[in-house]
Parts: sequence; structure tokens; C-alpha cells
Amino acid sequence: MSERDDDLARSEELLHAWFLRHARDLPWRDTRDPYAILVSEVMLQQTQVERVRPRYLAWLARWPTVESLAAASPGDVIREWQGLGYNRRALHLHRAATRVAADGWPEDLTELPGIGQYTAAAIRCFAHGDDVLPVDVNVARVLRRTGGSFSAASAQALMDLGAKVCLARIPRCSACPLADGCPSRGLRDAPLRKQGTFEGSFRQRRAATLRVVAESPQGLHALDDEAVRALERDGLVVVHEGTVALPG
Ligand code: ADE
Repeated sequence: MSERDDDLARSEELLHAWFLRHARDLPWRDTRDPYAILVSEVMLQQTQVERVRPRYLAWLARWPTVESLAAASPGDVIREWQGLGYNRRALHLHRAATRVAADGWPEDLTELPGIGQYTAAAIRCFAHGDDVLPVDVNVARVLRRTGGSFSAASAQALMDLGAKVCLARIPRCSACPLADGCPSRGLRDAPLRKQGTFEGSFRQRRAATLRVVAESPQGLHALDDEAVRALERDGLVVVHEGTVALPG
């Protein structure tokens, strides 16, 4: 082993020792079912872990298999998704389930709707144990700051380190198992441009409109017309003879 390989192996050892003591107990870590991993990863794409936890459990209780989800109506799927945000994810997940139920899992997971490189890597790593590291924003930050290269066996540990210790704005280097050799120790990232506020945004208008329609079909005249049109374009609602409803 070269000195550099030695350092990398040592980093990974320190990280794993830290993870043994500090791992978050997350329900999608108890399974290797690719469908359950897919559900968790799609939910986690833009929603915080603590908000996802109960919704993931409820989802799998309702639709425990890819076949059961494929058999659900898109309307029920959109309704179950309410509150998680970015509702198109629900439709993508449903379409992906429909394809997998019909044809099985494709070799290249990115052929499925809503699955990009990251989600494909997460399924391969967490469900199949393939040696591919899923790099989300937290993992990318740890890799960039440490200059380290980690195997897929470190994926969950890197996620927790990025979420709890190697924070973007104020990293907690004193709690970090990798701090000793870390070239970025004590350095913060420059503040990112903040995501536009949800309040008053078009995204909020869309979400509010979809929430009302998910309760029961509505007359178009009573709704935010622009929001309805955007939802219709995305397949989240159907408009028929002046009535707006979830897709059948
Ligand atoms: N964020 C995305 N995927 C995750 C996972 N598997 N565990 C924790 N946080 C995540």
C-alpha cells in the first residue's frame, strides 16, 4: 500500500468507528428491497429526513410492493403524497412502478422516470450492494472538503457525517472523525444563494390548488387558473367540462 492508500484506509476506518456510535436510525436502512429504497430516495430528494420518516412508513404500509403501487390510481398516489412537496415526484414514482411491474427492473435504472444518476447509484449501493457511491449534496461536500475517496461501504456514514457534522455553513470540525487530516478544517463554505421563499411563490399556488382538488373535484372557475394549467401540463390534474380533478 502506498502512503496515500494508507491514509485513505485510515480515514475510512475512523469514519466507520464514528458511524458505529452515531448512525441515525432510519427505517430505509433496515431493508435491501429495491422498491423500498426507491421510495425512500425519491422522498428524500427534496424533503427532510424527519418529514420523510413517517410518510415512508405509511407509504410502504399502503403499497408494500412495486406491483401494489402500480395497481393504484394516479389520483390515490398524488393524494398520499400531499405535504411532501414537488408533487411530480409522486407521478414519476407511480410510472416507474408501472414499468417495473410490467417489465422488471431495467439494467440501467436511469431509464425509469424520475431516476437520475444519484438515485440509480443509491439503489445499486443500498439494495444490491454494488460498489458505487451515491453522491448527494452532503456526500459531495464531505468528499470535496476532505479530498478523500471513499468506497460505497461508507455511503451511509458519509451521509450522516454530511448531515450532522460536516455542515455547509458552520461545520462542526471538533466533532469530526476526519478533522485531523482534513485540509478544510475550520473553513466554511460561502453562503449559497437561498432558495426563493415558498410563501407567495407560484410553487405555493400550485401546491395549494392541488391540495384543494385532492380533497374533491372543483369547478375551474373557483380555482387559480394559471396554477391549474401548470398542474394539468404535468399530469397532476385533469380538466374536463369545467371540472378539475385528480387523474383517474
Ligand atoms: N438522503 C438521501 N438518501 C439518504 C439515506 N439513504 N440516508 C440518509 N439520508 C439520505
